[in-house]
Amino acid sequence: MTALDETYTLSNGVEIPKLGLGTWFIDDDKAAEAVRAAVGIGYRNIDTAQAYGNEHGVGDGVRSCGEPRDELFVSTKLAAEIKDYDQAIAAIDGSLTTLGLDHVDLVLIHSPQPWDDFRGGDYAQGNREAWRALEDAHRAGKIRSIGVSNFQRHDLENILQGASVVPHVNQLLVHAGNTPSDLLAYCQSKQILVEAYSPIAHGAILTNAEVQAMAQKYGVSVPQLCIRYTLQLGTVSLPKTANPEHMRSNAEVDFEISGADMDVLRDLRGVDYGEHSAFPVYGGK
Ligand SMILES: NC(=O)c1ccc[n+]([C@@H]2O[C@H](COP(=O)([O-])OP(=O)(O)OC[C@H]3O[C@@H](n4cnc5c(N)ncnc54)[C@H](OP(=O)(O)O)[C@@H]3O)[C@@H](O)[C@H]2O)c1
Repeated sequence: MTALDETYTLSNGVEIPKLGLGTWFIDDDKAAEAVRAAVGIGYRNIDTAQAYGNEHGVGDGVRSCGEPRDELFVSTKLAAEIKDYDQAIAAIDGSLTTLGLDHVDLVLIHSPQPWDDFRGGDYAQGNREAWRALEDAHRAGKIRSIGVSNFQRHDLENILQGASVVPHVNQLLVHAGNTPSDLLAYCQSKQILVEAYSPIAHGAILTNAEVQAMAQKYGVSVPQLCIRYTLQLGTVSLPKTANPEHMRSNAEVDFEISGADMDVLRDLRGVDYGEHSAFPVYGGK
């Protein structure tokens, strides 16, 4: 049994593989090949988004990989700018068409605010409308599980007022050096499974000397240490790569980080996203 075979069970009973493949920055014309390679290696959880512009390629990969559809867990995300019921319903149907699938396993609201106003204005009503659209698509059998991403506690509390479904998932920026412990505990208290995005800090942690030294101590690579860290936190880990060698090694994480070293990784400071700080999610808000 490797990390690729292990699953969590969502609050609705749906099983989700603990390790998935992130696809941000995999171009649409390369995505099918990446998905087929990942599935060949044993990945069963694939994460895309409307905003990535690669749902067509990801869907192609899912349909042509040779693995039965019900063995795969496919997620996408409703664009962050959509805060309206009718537009959300149309966009969910649009994703199914673009992916070429009759259902997806998980759809997330990508962000509580549009990207150009991240952590800005008041979108409470719009998020409740988008959530109602996800609930209706879930009830209609188009989506097996529904969730959110980048939602803080107050964003979740807003959705929970009047929701008929508690979000099954909250996908958050979680990596060594960025561990939102209070939010993780809150999600756990509501049976909301957290997915860790950018588990390798979008690549920014690869050159961190402290993390390199700890990886060496365990005889693993920095990505392996970082992926293992997120799994030991009890989150789904979604490393991105289109490189089959990286896919393979990222799944070789059957080692145990000690409690003391988990604390060191949680308390790590100074991971610098460099030029990527321009992306709202790495802007420190
Ligand atoms: N919900 C959200 O708002 C949100 C935001 C960001 C990300 N995400 C999701 O999370 C996924 C992962 O996050 P991410 O793409 O930001 O970054 P990440 O997975 O933290 O890091 C990706 C970087 O690490 C490199 N890498 C991966 N495996 C490696 C290995 N074994 N050896 C050396 N380098 C390796 C990749 O390069 P190579 O490609 O060359 O391997 C790439 O440069 C995304 O693809 C997306 O699905 C969601």
